Amino acid sequence: MKKIIVSAILLLLTMNTTKAQVYLDPQAPIEERVKDAISRMTTHEKIQVIHAQSKFTSAGVPRLGIRQLNMDDGPHGVREELEWNTWNPAKWTNDFIVAFPSLTCLAATWNRELSATYGNAVSEEFAFRGKDVMLGPGVNIQRTPLNGRAFEYMGEDPYLASEMVVPYIQSAQKNGVACCIKHFVLNDQETDRFAVNVNLSNRALHEIYLEPFRRAVVDAHVYTIMGSYNMWKGVHCCHNDELLNGILKRDWGFDGAVISDWGGTTDTWQAATGGLDIEMGSYTDGKLKESEFTYDDYYLARPFEKLIEEGKIPMEVLDEKVARVLRTIFRTAMNPDKAIGSQCSDAHYEACRTIGEEGIVLLKNVATSKKEHPLLPLDPTKYNKILVVGENATRSLTQGGGSSELKTLHDVSPLEALQALYGDKIDHAQGYTSGRAIYDQVDRIDPARQAALKTEALEKARNADLIIFIGGLNKNHRQDCENGDREGYALSFDQNELIGELAAIQQNMVVVMFGGNPYAMPWIDSVAALLHCWYLGSEAGNALVNILSGKVCPSGKLPVTFAKRYEHYPYVKYINESYPGVNKQVYYKEDIYVGYRGFEHDKVEPLFPFGFGLSYTTFKYGKPTVAGNTVSVDVTNTGEVEGKETIQFYIGFEKCPEDRPLKELKDFRKISLKPGETKKVSFTVGKEKLRYYSIASDKWETYDGPCKIYIGGSSANVQSIKL
Ligand code: BGC
Repeated sequence: MKKIIVSAILLLLTMNTTKAQVYLDPQAPIEERVKDAISRMTTHEKIQVIHAQSKFTSAGVPRLGIRQLNMDDGPHGVREELEWNTWNPAKWTNDFIVAFPSLTCLAATWNRELSATYGNAVSEEFAFRGKDVMLGPGVNIQRTPLNGRAFEYMGEDPYLASEMVVPYIQSAQKNGVACCIKHFVLNDQETDRFAVNVNLSNRALHEIYLEPFRRAVVDAHVYTIMGSYNMWKGVHCCHNDELLNGILKRDWGFDGAVISDWGGTTDTWQAATGGLDIEMGSYTDGKLKESEFTYDDYYLARPFEKLIEEGKIPMEVLDEKVARVLRTIFRTAMNPDKAIGSQCSDAHYEACRTIGEEGIVLLKNVATSKKEHPLLPLDPTKYNKILVVGENATRSLTQGGGSSELKTLHDVSPLEALQALYGDKIDHAQGYTSGRAIYDQVDRIDPARQAALKTEALEKARNADLIIFIGGLNKNHRQDCENGDREGYALSFDQNELIGELAAIQQNMVVVMFGGNPYAMPWIDSVAALLHCWYLGSEAGNALVNILSGKVCPSGKLPVTFAKRYEHYPYVKYINESYPGVNKQVYYKEDIYVGYRGFEHDKVEPLFPFGFGLSYTTFKYGKPTVAGNTVSVDVTNTGEVEGKETIQFYIGFEKCPEDRPLKELKDFRKISLKPGETKKVSFTVGKEKLRYYSIASDKWETYDGPCKIYIGGSSANVQSIKL
């Protein structure tokens, strides 16, 4: 009898081990692979795959040949390789990459195809570096111009951010690299980012802040999502049950993995039951190096395993996390179609430059005397001495800024590109210094040095017949940098005074600004031309010079409102409670009236409105016409050069029982027109354009009253027609 039982057990065991290894079969449906893999894993192996094993990897199952996940920042290129277990550079010599323009610049292109180009190019670099998960893109809403990380996001409007992020994710993930859209959600400021609790209405949450994430999940099928540090309803978003299990997984059907922000996990029970799937970055250095806290001590490691073993949390909770991790592994690391990728290819530099060119926004361009043409594009025959002033003409803007910092193979600075085109005509004066980009610390600047730099610039300006000022923000702490917000709306480092004094010497002056945020411009009336460049990545100089010289006609449009004064931003009237918060509580009292929605609601005229951007040509809009649900308009290029125009389509709900914005962006189309050419552009009003989150019913409703349609080249330059 004993013999029979033993043989039966042996038989069962052999059956189990010889069971077809479905999980390794790339042709098998992913869900079957996942089920099969889980059935073979021990509890400990399951625990191992749901938390970090190094700074940027989570474990696979070596015994079963299941690969680990290699992750990396994000979002503008692949971050430099770091040591396995620290934030220190690994000092590799083959991890120099292309820095792509900042996501705010991408949003400013209003070009969905370019977004797909970006997603493809950057994911090829990730694939080449052996990465499976790209920590980006970011779609937090630019609610305040002080947010130190706004440059990593796509502006103030949820529709624009959604339309731009969907093609990005789709084309990146085609290469077998998962996007990890971040930071979910309400991480709209860096001040107190680890602890601030955000209070807001459900309609603001759904309409404004969740919407780009929802579209990334529902329309782009994003594979992973990063929980944010901050809290909502008093619970950290990295393991917020209502947010992750409720909205994200149940309501939107997200089937991928929720990854914590690095160090964003704070509690085992919440992490276990609150929807987190992979815990990353808890404490700074694990493995006994700087702290006693090892990878086994992670909240989702031994402490969670214990709860499972004691039966306090059912195995299904663990299995569900494992299923999500395995799905991600099969879609990326073990995806037979994963691209090999490439690094620093010509195509990547070209993508970088093209996106930069289309993202640069021409904000002002006038003639300096009545008989002249506008100052831009530059007519080189007119100038013999061109003085370039400003630190951003030479400073690397790919370094600093926090986790998005990049180690590039080759960057072209604005000064280099200008010298390449205009040769000896170019002279340079730094004009001001901003000090070093030290993470978490503002460098001390010697006032004597600052004064000397200014004197030098003013002296050189007296001999110049054209000045190109190249300044703005940079990646220093308290500028555009993670883990700190800007100290104010004004530009720093005495730039305003310098620009004012330069403009008094020479009226032929172009101002070129870099930065992820709007800023005050007390000098705007005294300069002839202004370009805003966001951050342009490795090809910064070439993209800029192609615009300055007229080789490329500018076509960028603002994804964010530039206010005349800081006080005009819609939340500021609610003082500290609305930003940066009091006692770590912040209240979004402006509700859905963020950005242009708020300026229009408050009837405040911005300096440069959302959607605004000039061209070297001019466009004439015909009268919009309506046929059924479709509104059409003819757009003609009435100038002398070929150019691109973004036609924006807004809808206002005229008779809604609830208060609504005057109008909201619902569609846009970017077209290219030759001089004299006319194109008809049509927009159809389908149900999805009439959705709104009702205060009364606390859910999405479809508006069915009269609408006013607004069509034009910016939010403030529109024609309206009733529908
Ligand atoms: C940032 C994330 C980043 C992570 C890893 C965090 O501090 O908030 O955006 O992906 O670090 O570097």
